[in-house]
Amino acid sequence: MEEKKITTSFGYFDSIDSLPTDVKQLMQQAIETREQAYAPYSKFKVGAAVLLSNGEVVKGSNQENAAYPTGLCAERVAIFSAGANFPNIEILQIAITAAASDYELTHPATSCGACRQALMEYENKQDKPIEVFFMGASGKVIKTDSIANLLPLHFDSTYL
Ligand code: THU
Repeated sequence: MEEKKITTSFGYFDSIDSLPTDVKQLMQQAIETREQAYAPYSKFKVGAAVLLSNGEVVKGSNQENAAYPTGLCAERVAIFSAGANFPNIEILQIAITAAASDYELTHPATSCGACRQALMEYENKQDKPIEVFFMGASGKVIKTDSIANLLPLHFDSTYL
């Protein structure tokens, strides 16, 4: 058997205040939208802010439902909205923040597998990496240069 290794890399910022000013502003928008999340069941609010190359910021928060699986994560609400409203505009960055109601989330909450797959589709579509920044309610921020770093061996349209 031949073994192959896939390596990936992440950057860490100490806090939102250590981010470059433009990214900090994007994360602040993610925080604002996080607070508008509809998360009465999990009480875990997530906000995502997507920066487009035309300067628009498209935001999304998690939207839950009494029929639990019907709800949608913040990342997909945001990226689908960007895809629907700005289909031909490049996506540059996405900032994501999560907060729990009953404890202080002090480390970054990273996207679920389904959201990684959804985000990957848009990176493949534009054939250009999308930078991602993850934060909890406070604390360190993780940066990665490409969605592909989050989803090695992903499924894509080449299989179809
Ligand atoms: N959630 C997100 O919005 N993004 C993720 O990547 C993981 C989870 C939401 C879904 C649900 O409303 C709540 O967080 C708890 O799972």
